[in-house]
Amino acid sequence: MKADRVTALILAAGAGTRMNSDKPKVVHEILDTPLIQLVIGAAKNAGCERILTVVGHKEEQVRAVLPPAVECVHQPERKGTADAVTVAADALADSTGYLLVMCGDMPLLRPETLRQLVAVCLDRCMAVLTAQVENPSGYGRIVRDETGSIAAIVEDKDATAEELSIKEVNTGIYCFALDGLFDRLAKINNDNAQGEYYLTDMVEVCRREGETVIGLQLTEAEEAHGVNSRVQLAQAGSILRDRINEKLMETGVNIIAPELTWISPDCVIEHDVDILPNTIVAQGTSIKSGSVIGPNSRIYGAAIGADCRVEESVVLQSSMGDRCYVGPYSYIRPEVTLGDEVRVGPSVEMKKSTVGNRSKIPHLSYIGDATLGEGVNVGAGTVTCNYDGVKKSPTVIGDGAFIGSDTMLVAPVTIGKNSITAAGSTIGQDVPDDSLALGRARQVNKDGWVKENRAEG
Ligand code: UD1
Ligand code: CA
Repeated sequence: MKADRVTALILAAGAGTRMNSDKPKVVHEILDTPLIQLVIGAAKNAGCERILTVVGHKEEQVRAVLPPAVECVHQPERKGTADAVTVAADALADSTGYLLVMCGDMPLLRPETLRQLVAVCLDRCMAVLTAQVENPSGYGRIVRDETGSIAAIVEDKDATAEELSIKEVNTGIYCFALDGLFDRLAKINNDNAQGEYYLTDMVEVCRREGETVIGLQLTEAEEAHGVNSRVQLAQAGSILRDRINEKLMETGVNIIAPELTWISPDCVIEHDVDILPNTIVAQGTSIKSGSVIGPNSRIYGAAIGADCRVEESVVLQSSMGDRCYVGPYSYIRPEVTLGDEVRVGPSVEMKKSTVGNRSKIPHLSYIGDATLGEGVNVGAGTVTCNYDGVKKSPTVIGDGAFIGSDTMLVAPVTIGKNSITAAGSTIGQDVPDDSLALGRARQVNKDGWVKENRAEG
């Protein structure tokens, strides 16, 4: 691609009626990512310097999922695809170079394809991305002239029987030279079967100026898979899932059941990581080499170090160092930071806590709003009582401390370095370093009580 600037305009003002949803179509997700974000990702990776979206139907919901750098243009009324581009005229008044027009519901487009489309448009006013499909119904048909360039795009509803038999269709993705674009758009009318301003009529406008319109045909028609229904959403999801899994496997990630493994496009997974079945990895998670994740795990927005084992667990917006062991059945909620070689055992819930190297919380505990030093051992059944019904309070546990099983740590409270709490204690006062804290009633044995008090039977 030459150094010309490319701007992307993503059309997303439509309702997507066939989704039967309260949400606009483009905010529906595959692999935990809204459709429109996938399209934006492709535009970005294709080198678009500026990205605009045309919004209309339930636009607040669309705006809510857009990255901050993406600009929005409001289309007051859905008058057709040509109108959708026209509403961006003011926003693009000072722009030069090329405009890539895309649809917000086409999540499988590859950046390389978009680059190629821009490349064939260089020094021309328009290029169209086309696809050869088995069932062309519903699409605009591509009519080619004797030289092979595009003579017209005829909408399904306006086509003759002969045109309807054409299997090369318009994907709805175009590249336009910005120079003169809005003057040309002004020449389009709505004199057609649907009474809409068709962007496809740009072909005729360009040809009247003596310009050639180039059609770039996809080698893999699947890239143009649009999402109009829940069935198509699931199909696109499985195609994208396979693509991502295959790419990861090529780089050395071991995925033993790819059809049962869902990894979002924004995750970074190093070689020699094993992902076991029924595992979802999403929201920008990173996993370093040698770690084994799953089965049955959900890892969202996490940073996982090398050689960790996360087994049948949930990890949300948290991080861990190297050689940690988490699970099975651990629930790590946001803002947890584990050092190296930390062990978090079965049925442990954690949130907003920091744990130093080599510390262990091996069984059945709740750790919230806590800071644990290095080499701490937390006995089974320990609870940080961090909430008094009004506010959350912190617990601090010093290096080398040993928390006896079933200790209730009533926060705010600090346990000194190398100190011990007796099993079954309720600890509400700070414990100094190197001390034993007993916070439980002294045991009383009543000799012969059972025999004396239970009726003979
Ligand atoms: C369009 C093409 C058709 C092509 C098909 C590919 C036209 C006239 N036809 O048809 O040749 O085969 O796409 O999918 O362009 N949109 C707006 N504002 C509007 C109208 C549409 O933002 O006023 C958006 C929609 O949200 C959608 C996209 O533009 O993302 C395409 O619109 P749609 O009505 O689905 O066009 P099709 O009839 O499918
Ligand atoms: Ca459509």
